[in-house]
Amino acid sequence: MTNQYNHIPRYTTTARILHWLMAAIFIVAWLIGFYSTEFMSYGDGGSRGAVITLHKNIASTILFLVVIRIFWRYTHPAPALPENMSPLMQKMAHGAHHLLYLLLVLVPISGCVFSWSAGHPVPVLYLFNIPQLVQANPSIVAWARPVHEWLALFAGLVVVVHLLAALKHHFIDKDSVLLSMLPERKQR
Ligand code: HEM
Repeated sequence: MTNQYNHIPRYTTTARILHWLMAAIFIVAWLIGFYSTEFMSYGDGGSRGAVITLHKNIASTILFLVVIRIFWRYTHPAPALPENMSPLMQKMAHGAHHLLYLLLVLVPISGCVFSWSAGHPVPVLYLFNIPQLVQANPSIVAWARPVHEWLALFAGLVVVVHLLAALKHHFIDKDSVLLSMLPERKQR
């Protein structure tokens, strides 16, 4: 059984680490951003500002990781999808992955433009700020804010569909798609 499990075609270890690290960062940053926008106001004794700063310090790391990840993906092909998947489903899976990559780039970039145009820095892990590429400008904030918020909401929806698709592969189709993103088991 263990041998069979370990013979499943998998993403490389680096691709799997990047996937789960970025999934964790994305979900945590998304939840903090959503909470600060929907459930906090600036009247909370300054805590909203601290929560948004936390959101930015976590989310900004995605910009660096996504560059490494896209490079890794181009140089290390993904395992083939199961043969019993229809060509249409295979196309949809590839399309969804491209969309996720695009959102991993656009959501943090739109956040940077929003923050800079509002006159705030974009800090990374409380270590340094990304150099400011956009000057403070209220007319930019007017579109950058809704663009960031709607892109983030859309990305949340795409991630939920992605998660449900992974679970469907595992529990309904009973194929190796979810396992291809999980670690191998140690041989006993
Ligand atoms: C939270 C639960 C998640 C689960 C269970 C999950 C599961 C998976 C699985 C099984 C694959 C391989 C699919 C295949 O080869 O067809 C995959 C690929 C991928 N996932 Fe996730 N994922 C999750 C979260 C996320 C998040 C939050 C993101 C980004 C926002 C993400 C982005 C991607 C991308 C871009 C790929 C394509 C990898 C490639 O082929 O280069 N995933 N995921």
